[in-house]
Amino acid sequence: MRLVSVRLIRTSWFRMAVGYAVLSIVSVTMLFALLYWNTAVFVAEQTEETIEAEITGLAEHYRQAGLFGLTEVIQERSQGQRLSLYLLTDPNRRPIAGNLNSWPAATHPGEWMDFEYERPVGSRLVEHRAHARHLVLPGGFHLLVGYDVQDQVRLEQRMRQSMIWIGALALALGLGGGLLMARHWLRRVDSVNKTLSEIMDGDMTRRVPVSGTDDELDRLARNLNDMLNRIEALMTGLRQVTDNIAHDLRSPLNRLRSRLEVTLMTDQDTQAYKDALTDTVAETDELLKTFNALLLIGEAESGVDRARLESVDLTQRIGDVVELYQPAAEETGRVLEADIAWNIGVRGNPNLISQAVVNLLDNALKYTSEGGVVHVRADTDAGRPFIEVSDSGPGIPEDERKRVLDRFVRLEGSRSTPGSGLGLSLVAAVAKLHGAELRLDDNEPGLRVRMTFPAAETGEGAKKSGVRRQQR
Ligand SMILES: Nc1ncnc2c1ncn2[C@@H]1O[C@H](COP(=O)(O)OP(=O)(O)OP(=O)(O)O)[C@@H](O)[C@H]1O
Ligand SMILES: [Mg+2]
Repeated sequence: MRLVSVRLIRTSWFRMAVGYAVLSIVSVTMLFALLYWNTAVFVAEQTEETIEAEITGLAEHYRQAGLFGLTEVIQERSQGQRLSLYLLTDPNRRPIAGNLNSWPAATHPGEWMDFEYERPVGSRLVEHRAHARHLVLPGGFHLLVGYDVQDQVRLEQRMRQSMIWIGALALALGLGGGLLMARHWLRRVDSVNKTLSEIMDGDMTRRVPVSGTDDELDRLARNLNDMLNRIEALMTGLRQVTDNIAHDLRSPLNRLRSRLEVTLMTDQDTQAYKDALTDTVAETDELLKTFNALLLIGEAESGVDRARLESVDLTQRIGDVVELYQPAAEETGRVLEADIAWNIGVRGNPNLISQAVVNLLDNALKYTSEGGVVHVRADTDAGRPFIEVSDSGPGIPEDERKRVLDRFVRLEGSRSTPGSGLGLSLVAAVAKLHGAELRLDDNEPGLRVRMTFPAAETGEGAKKSGVRRQQR
C-alpha cells in the first residue's frame, strides 16, 4: 500500500492540516521577523552609541592636546584585539595613525558607512564587516571611528537560518500530522462504508463498528445503527403483516371457494343460492375486517405516521364512538355508561385512536354477558390524558394479559364468539405509536383497560365531568 494515496490527499482532514501548517508557518515567520528586526535595530543602536561616545572622547583629546595628542591616543587604542576601529589621515587621506591600513570607501564628512575590512585572526586575515563614522577635524584632517560588527552579522545569519529550519519543520509536522489524521479518519470512514455496502448487498444484520471513544464518528455510527435497527424493525413488521395476511387469509379464502364450488356443483333452488351468497358476503366482510385490521396494525406499528400527528379532541372522539355503540348495547341488554371530561386533547392520529376505542368497546360488549355493565372513561391523571374501558365480564387472567396483545391470540373461552384476535393488537400498536402506556387490570369482576397518553403540551387543564353521557 502506498503511504500517501490520492484519496488521502483529497480528505477534508488533509486539506485542513495543510491549511493549519501554512497558517503556523506564516505566524512563526512573522514572529521571527519581528524578533529579528528588533534585535538587529537594538544592536545597531548600541554600536552607534559606542562609536559616538568614542568620537566625543577623541574630539575632546584633540581640543586639549592637538593633533599630536590625538595621534598618541589613537596609537595607544589601536593596540591589541579591540573591536573598535580608528584611522586618522592628513587632508589627502594619507594614514597617520590607527588600526586600518587605508580609507575604506568614498565618504562624506559626518556620514555613517558600512564596509568590509581584513582583520588578523591568529595568523590569517579574515574579512569582517564594520560600521563607522567619518569626521573632519579642524585643519582638514580626517578621522574614522568604527566598530567591528561581524558578530552581529553572524547572529543575523543564524537567525535567518533558524527561521528557515523552523518553517520547514512546521510544514513537515503539519503535513505529516495531516496525513496521519487523514489516514485515521479515512480508515474509520472506510469501515462505515464497508458496513453500509454489505447492508446494501442484503445483509441487514450488519452494524457500523463503534470505537468506544464517543467522538463525533462514534455518535454518527450510533445514530446510523439506531436508524438501521429501526429500518430492520419496520421491515420485520412489514414481513410479519405479509406473512399474517398470507397465512390467515388463506384458509377463509379456501373455505369461501369450496362453499361456492359445492353450491355450483348441484342444481339448487333460488333460495339455496341466495343463502349461499348471503353466507359468502358475510364471510367476505369478515375477511375485509381482518385485512383492514392487519393493515392498520402495520401502519400503527411502523410509526410512519408519527410526523403527521395532529391535535385530537378525545372528548369529541370518544363521545362519538359511545353514541355509535349505545343502540347495539341496549339492544343486546348491556349497560353502556360513559364518563367523559371536557377538553381532553392529545396529539395523535384521530382515526387510529377512534379505532382503538372501538376495539376496546367491542371486546367489552362482546365478552360481557347480558345485563353486564361497560364503563367508558376519559379524563386526565396528573396532567396525562387517559382513556379507560372497563366491563363486568370474565376478565383476562393476569398471566394472559401480555399475550392477548399479540396478533391472532384468542383465549379459550372466546372461541365461540366471532373474532380474529387482532383487536387488542391494534390497541397496543396505537398506544405504542402515541407513546402511551397500556394497562390491563382486574376490574373485580371484569377487565379494565387504560391507555394513558404523555402529558399534553397545552397547559389547558381539563375541567372535570362537564358532560356525562349515561344511559341505561
Ligand atoms: N373485555 C374482555 N373480557 C374478557 N376477555 C377479553 C376481553 N377483551 C379481550 N379479551 C380476550 O382477549 C382476546 C384477544 O382480544 P382481541 O380483541 O385481540 O381479539 P378478538 O376480540 O378475539 O377478535 P377481534 O377483536 O379481532 O374481532 C379475546 O379473544 C378474548 O379472549
Ligand atoms: Mg376484539
